[in-house]
Amino acid sequence: MPKKKKLTYTSLLDSRDIHRGYEQALETVQGEFGQHHPMFIGGRRVAAIEDFETRSPIDNDIVIGTFQKGGETEAQSAVVEAKQSFISWSQIDWAERLRITRAVADRLEKEDALLAALMTYEVGKNRSEALAEVCEAVEMLRYNCAIYEEQKGFTLPMSQVTGERSTSTMRPYGVWAIISPFNFPLVLAAGMISAALLTGNTVVFKPTSKAPLTGLKLYAAWVQAGVPGGALNMITGPGKPFGAVAAAHPDVAGIAFTGSRDAGMWLQRNFSVRQPYPKPFVAEMGSKNPAIVTASADLDKAVEGVLKGAFGYSGQKCSATSRVYVEAAVASDFIERLRVKTEQVIVGDPRKSDVFVGPLIDQAALTKFADAVKDGLADGGAVITGGKVLRDGVWNQGCYVRPTIMTGLPRGHRLFNEELFVPFLLIDTITSLEEGLRESNDTEYGLTAGIFSENEGEVARFFASVQFGVCYANRRGGATTGAWPGVQPFGGWKASGVTGKGVGGPYYLLSYVREQTQTRA
Ligand code: SIN
Repeated sequence: MPKKKKLTYTSLLDSRDIHRGYEQALETVQGEFGQHHPMFIGGRRVAAIEDFETRSPIDNDIVIGTFQKGGETEAQSAVVEAKQSFISWSQIDWAERLRITRAVADRLEKEDALLAALMTYEVGKNRSEALAEVCEAVEMLRYNCAIYEEQKGFTLPMSQVTGERSTSTMRPYGVWAIISPFNFPLVLAAGMISAALLTGNTVVFKPTSKAPLTGLKLYAAWVQAGVPGGALNMITGPGKPFGAVAAAHPDVAGIAFTGSRDAGMWLQRNFSVRQPYPKPFVAEMGSKNPAIVTASADLDKAVEGVLKGAFGYSGQKCSATSRVYVEAAVASDFIERLRVKTEQVIVGDPRKSDVFVGPLIDQAALTKFADAVKDGLADGGAVITGGKVLRDGVWNQGCYVRPTIMTGLPRGHRLFNEELFVPFLLIDTITSLEEGLRESNDTEYGLTAGIFSENEGEVARFFASVQFGVCYANRRGGATTGAWPGVQPFGGWKASGVTGKGVGGPYYLLSYVREQTQTRA
């Protein structure tokens, strides 16, 4: 089989074959729409009492499918199954878990166009974002495997004293509840599930209710690769009952969560008070990401990087650039150039090859956008471009808005602090790098940050002072977005994350295991 071209979030989609394959896949996946889908507990197909329908955010007339509204009863049965499978799954040779995980990666790679097309329908990603996400998921699985193999399943001989032989071995905890978000429905689920399963834990997986079909495809890839039914279970449905079981069930050994700060904090609080002892909690929880543009910046790079960072996937990334601090000397030039480029962005149906900004995920996001514009204007902000909900033609079929830039808001305004997850960028003027750093760090969040500066001293000062986990300098491909497994471990500080070990990085798997020392006298 010819080698597939690797795509990242900064690649150009310059191959006709890739476009053709994706366009065919858009047709093919539609053939699957409208079906009823079960959940999977212990490898068995399970139906709940109620179900729910999902529709495409691109066009609300497209019904993706009907899924089970799993509740506490189903979540509890899944925990029981996962617990029963724990001993056998954790005790098989680690090389077998590696083989299975690699087979999942191969399968996703084989189905890349279909999975990308499905994500376009389910969550409204444009083709380059969707194709890159499948590639990222494949890389994530392979990277986690490479680390696990390099560490020989995390078993290490220790120093010997007085004839004793000791070994350190990192062992799994047991059953993990894994909850994934809508914005990266494949890669974020794949990252958490692979970390848990590879290291010998078993899993109850609940994907976002916005993209359950992508979740089911991922589940199917694991099953086809040979994971036993009880080692990976899948519940669909609302987050609350699942979260309640995850937090309180005595047989849940750990939770891995990616999503909003509110939901993450709720889970963490409940997990810590409702369990009899502290258990591991792995979470990534959003951010309010700054980019600093200094007077020495190459403004071409800055404009392109901020445009992609702020408006890629309609600003619905935890890594999205949502605040820019630009030095006064270049502020008007930068803002004008960014305005012009932003107005050239095509907003519309993301199935079309020239569309950069697709729909928002739902009506709640649209309301958030409209409220931000209204509140910003009421509090002294000026809209440089955008500020509009789009309503005619294709825009009537979903929640479409114009990418928006606002200036002039007072510091400390809620819009400088709250994560919005919509294409809404605030720009503020600064008189020095120090001021930009102070403002950037003046947030409870700490996921991604960027700088544009051609002065190496400024870049070094930025890296040394900025309180964020994933930091970039002069990145055209995304001022604060586009981390890649094995290249940019992705983990937040402060309210953005819990473990301090980024997904897609060398230490991530360690959050899913605990050390046991074995000494033979
Ligand atoms: C995300 O997880 O929201 C985005 C990852 C990235 O853009 O680096």
